Amino acid sequence: MSSQVRPEEEEEEGQDANMPMRVQRLEEFGISSGDIAKLAAAGYHTVESLAFTPKKQIMVVKGISEAKADKILAEATKLVPMNFTTATEFYQRRNEVIMIQTGSKELDKLLGGGIETGSITEIFGEFRTGKTQLCHMLAVMCQLPTSMGGGEGKCLYIDTEGTFRPERLLSVAERFGLQGEEVLDNVAFARAHHTDHQKQLLLQAAAMMAETRYSLLVVDSATALYRTDYSGRGELAARQMHLAQFLRLLQRMADEFGVAVVLTNQVVAQVDGMAMFNADPKKPIGGNIMAHSSTTRLYLRKGRAENRICKIYDSPNLPEAEAMFSIGENGIDDAKE
Ligand SMILES: Nc1ncnc2c1ncn2[C@@H]1O[C@H](COP(=O)(O)OP(=O)(O)OP(=O)(O)O)[C@@H](O)[C@H]1O
Ligand SMILES: [Mg+2]
Repeated sequence: MSSQVRPEEEEEEGQDANMPMRVQRLEEFGISSGDIAKLAAAGYHTVESLAFTPKKQIMVVKGISEAKADKILAEATKLVPMNFTTATEFYQRRNEVIMIQTGSKELDKLLGGGIETGSITEIFGEFRTGKTQLCHMLAVMCQLPTSMGGGEGKCLYIDTEGTFRPERLLSVAERFGLQGEEVLDNVAFARAHHTDHQKQLLLQAAAMMAETRYSLLVVDSATALYRTDYSGRGELAARQMHLAQFLRLLQRMADEFGVAVVLTNQVVAQVDGMAMFNADPKKPIGGNIMAHSSTTRLYLRKGRAENRICKIYDSPNLPEAEAMFSIGENGIDDAKE
């Protein structure tokens, strides 16, 4: 994957205020092209990615001394607004946040419009509750124009369980009258085989997102490979540290590219003393690290037949409420009687 861009593309994308600034831009501000190449090789493809990274981490890049890191950060933070603003201005920006609709009116209403871009949404629940189906649905919805409830961008899909099925995307495409081939071309797909690989794929993803507008990044499932790669009792601390780094990278990509990050997670039976007082003693895995990294946490459970129930488990702005939807041949839809 090359981070070079054809000149005509650069011109076109230069006008798009929603696209982040390419790291090459720093050349105008006295950073050498050699250093820029080193930064890009380490996964920093945009000025935003640098501005959002602490100095000690930039100094880890091969060939970047402390003096260089200081200079790079000084220039990056001049280009990326990172200071205080008024709540009024922030409120206006919040109103402009794009929501990606889910295909179910009730579910969208529950979510305050849909899945939020620029933020991490975690979907957890038992097997067959529709986590993967919802990911497939969003992979198509994110491509629709905003006037139709989409995110006007491509989708990047990381599958760790081997359950990605392009034919499911085609069924959804048909429902919205979209060209199936085009819809599939707009989804960049990778199967992750272990937790290091899962993290490396994000570095590639960052390079791709610096070139083209993506509106959605799916990781289905974010935690499954951690359970197999770190299965011993003594490995818990190492597992949590690796998971935290992975989630931190996802957060950076949400900030940097304004993509909606959607990740799925499994549940385990709750074994502590509270379980006996709880009618549904299941909890998401990943502990505090997962809890703190996901902005919005959605809990899916089974309803009758094809119906499913989504509960807001945690959100900074939505009440703890529930909505029912259905899973059908053409994707997520309104609940069936
Ligand atoms: N083509 C289809 N038409 C209708 N329903 C479908 C179709 N494909 C899958 N489903 C339904 O979707 C459900 C499976 O959901 P999904 O694969 O999203 O579960 P999950 O939550 O990802 O489970 P896991 O934890 O095992 O990954 C099944 O109940 C199945 O009946
Ligand atoms: Mg699944």
